[in-house]
Amino acid sequence: MYLTIPTLLSLVVVVAPPVVLAWDSLGHQTVGFLAQKYFTAQANATFNALLGIGDDGEGGFDIGDAAAWADTIRDPGNLPWSKGWHFINPKADDPEHGVCSLVYPSDCPAGNCIVSAIANQTSLVLSGGEGMVKKNATMFLLHLIGDLHQPLHASGFKLGGNAVRPVCFGQGCGESVNFTSLHGVWDGGIARRIRGLEFRPGREADERERREDKEAARAWAGEIYGKRGGEMGKEGVCDVLGSDECVLRWARESNGLVCTHVLKRGERYVLEHDLAGEYYEENWRVVEDRIAKAGWRLAGWMNAVARVLGKSNGGRGDL
Ligand SMILES: *[C@@H]1O[C@H](CO)[C@@H](O)[C@H](O)[C@H]1NC(C)=O
Ligand SMILES: *[C@@H]1O[C@H](CO)[C@@H](O)[C@H](O)[C@H]1NC(C)=O
Ligand SMILES: *[C@@H]1O[C@H](CO)[C@@H](O)[C@H](O)[C@H]1NC(C)=O
Ligand SMILES: *[C@@H]1O[C@H](CO)[C@@H](O)[C@H](O)[C@H]1NC(C)=O
Repeated sequence: MYLTIPTLLSLVVVVAPPVVLAWDSLGHQTVGFLAQKYFTAQANATFNALLGIGDDGEGGFDIGDAAAWADTIRDPGNLPWSKGWHFINPKADDPEHGVCSLVYPSDCPAGNCIVSAIANQTSLVLSGGEGMVKKNATMFLLHLIGDLHQPLHASGFKLGGNAVRPVCFGQGCGESVNFTSLHGVWDGGIARRIRGLEFRPGREADERERREDKEAARAWAGEIYGKRGGEMGKEGVCDVLGSDECVLRWARESNGLVCTHVLKRGERYVLEHDLAGEYYEENWRVVEDRIAKAGWRLAGWMNAVARVLGKSNGGRGDL
C-alpha cells in the first residue's frame, strides 16, 4: 500500500510511542536460547551458577530472561548510565548516499558506546569481583552482543532510525494503523512477523503474551539450530578476549547492512510504504541471519570467558 505524506500526517496521533532501543524481547530471548545450545558444558555450568538459572524447566529465570534483562533496567533511575551502551552512532553515516562507515574510537565519544561496553563488561566478568557485579555484567554481554547484530544499533543515520518515523508495519495501514519507527521495525516488527506474532509498537506485553513470546523464542532458537547448527565456528565467531577487534568487525558488518539492506531504497521509500509488504519480503532473511549469527558468536564469546574463568579457578571449571 502506498501512503502519501499528507495521508500519513493526517493519521498520526500526537502522542508518539516511546523510542524503542533494542531487539524486542523476542529477538533477545531467541539469541540467548540459541547461544545456550552452543555453550560448552563448562560455560553452561558456569553461567547457570552465576545467573541463578536452575533446572526447573519452564517458568523459572532462564537464559532468555537474562538476555532481555538489560532493557528492563534503563528506566527510570535504575542503571540509567547504561543507556548509551546499547548502540553506536557513527557520525559519517549517510546511507542515502551509500555511505556507511564506522570509525573507532572517534565514533564512541567518551568511551560511551556498545563496542567499549562489550569490552568493559567482559573485563568485569573476568575480574573476579563481587557476584552481583559479575552477574549484571554477564547479563549485559548476553544482551549487547545481540543488540550489536541489529543493523540500526550500529548506524548514525537519524539516531539509528529512531527518528525515521512514523513508518507503517502491518496489513491495512490506514485502517488499523501500526505506526512505529524504522528502528522499531528492525527491533521487533520483522522478527515478530517471521514468527506469526502480533506486533505491538508502544504497548507493553501482558502476562499471557510474555509467555507466548518466550515460547516463540525457544521454538525459533530450536529451528535455527536445527537448520544451521553446523555453521557455528565459521562466520566470525571469535574468542579474542580483551580486544576490540572482533567486536568492531561485528559492528562494521551491522553498519554496512544499513546501506545494503535497511535503507537500500532510501528513506522516502520506507516512509511511504507499508513495510510489512515487499520490504518485509526483502529483509526477513537478513533479520533471521543476524539473530543466528548473534547467537553463535555470543556462545563463542561466552565459552571463551568460561574457559578463562575456569583456569583462574584452578581448573575447576565452575565458580
Ligand atoms: C544448560 O543448562 C540448561 C539450564 O539448566 C539446561 O536446560 C540445558 O540442558 C543445559 N545444556 C546442556 C548441554 O547441559
Ligand atoms: C569503558 O571503560 C573505559 C576505561 O575505564 C571508560 O573510559 C569508558 O567510559 C567505559 N565505557 C563503557 C561503555 O562502559
Ligand atoms: C545489578 O542490577 C540491578 C538491577 O537489576 C541493580 O539494582 C543493582 O544495583 C546492580 N548491581 C550492580 C553491582 O551493578
Ligand atoms: C496491527 O495492529 C492491529 C491492531 O492492534 C493488529 O490487530 C494487527 O495484527 C497489527 N498488524 C501487524 C502486522 O502486526
